[in-house]
Amino acid sequence: MKEKPPPKTRSYGVDPRHLLPMFRDLLELITVRLANNKTRRHVIQLGRSVRQHAFDARDTLPVIDHPALAAFFGCQEPLEIILPPIDTISLSGLGFVVPYTLLATIVSALHPKKIFETGTFRGVGTLTMALNAPEAEIYTLDLPEHYTEAEVETLSKGDKEWVRLSRSSTGFAFLNHPAAPRIHQLRGNSLTFTPPDLLANTDLCFIDGGHSYECIKADTETALKILAPNGVIVWDDYAWFIDGVSQYLTELRHSLPLYRIAGSQLVICRNNQQPITPAS
Ligand SMILES: C[S@@+](CC[C@H](N)C(=O)[O-])C[C@H]1O[C@@H](n2cnc3c(N)ncnc32)[C@H](O)[C@@H]1O
Repeated sequence: MKEKPPPKTRSYGVDPRHLLPMFRDLLELITVRLANNKTRRHVIQLGRSVRQHAFDARDTLPVIDHPALAAFFGCQEPLEIILPPIDTISLSGLGFVVPYTLLATIVSALHPKKIFETGTFRGVGTLTMALNAPEAEIYTLDLPEHYTEAEVETLSKGDKEWVRLSRSSTGFAFLNHPAAPRIHQLRGNSLTFTPPDLLANTDLCFIDGGHSYECIKADTETALKILAPNGVIVWDDYAWFIDGVSQYLTELRHSLPLYRIAGSQLVICRNNQQPITPAS
């Protein structure tokens, strides 16, 4: 019997029956809904979403689709991932689960033994990595409890708010978790951080601290110092509204092979791939 081709997983066609309602919805959003205080937030969401789609459409980084993510790390088996409970994920304040699903997939496919994260916040990313790498020791860096204004001067208003919010709750997600003994909280400013020897040969660096150009550059340079052969760097927040990350990674892609994970703000790079030689 002739085998059926696998079902298509992606279709970007628009059913013509939806076209007219789409324009009607758009018109409604930018008129009556915009004028109403209670519904205005939906229009703001639409604006943000339009900007993200425009950013994605212009972006030229090669993209890895979700079903191909585990295979990118050489893992051919179907992968099981573990996510923290939904109320723990909510501590992240992001309001969505997908980034943690992708992070869990990367970690589960990679089997890292040593992980370094910049930007603990409430520890949801840290715990997600710990759950999916049961043999790993995880080191996670965040600013000291008391920091000076000068230490955060490169940060945007939004980033300063993340710093403020995390002061009394750094690492909350993992503090009483059975994985806690494998998680080591480091305190310091990543802009001036000298990695201790124990971070040599780190298998996975997750960069999610301050998002200024200066922070991303310093955090990437630290990651490149400690990364094991075959190690992986993951950057979060490659998005239209975070200039520091997109500007730095746009420069970095000329010397390192960077990939974007489809539909997400995550960018990855594997250490075993040949550095890109600039065209002469
Ligand atoms: C977006 S949050 C991290 C979210 C976390 N990785 C997660 O998955 O839930 C950013 C964190 O970076 C920390 N941070 C900002 N600038 C920093 C710096 N220069 N050094 C160390 N940590 C910094 C903030 O205090 C904040 O907790």
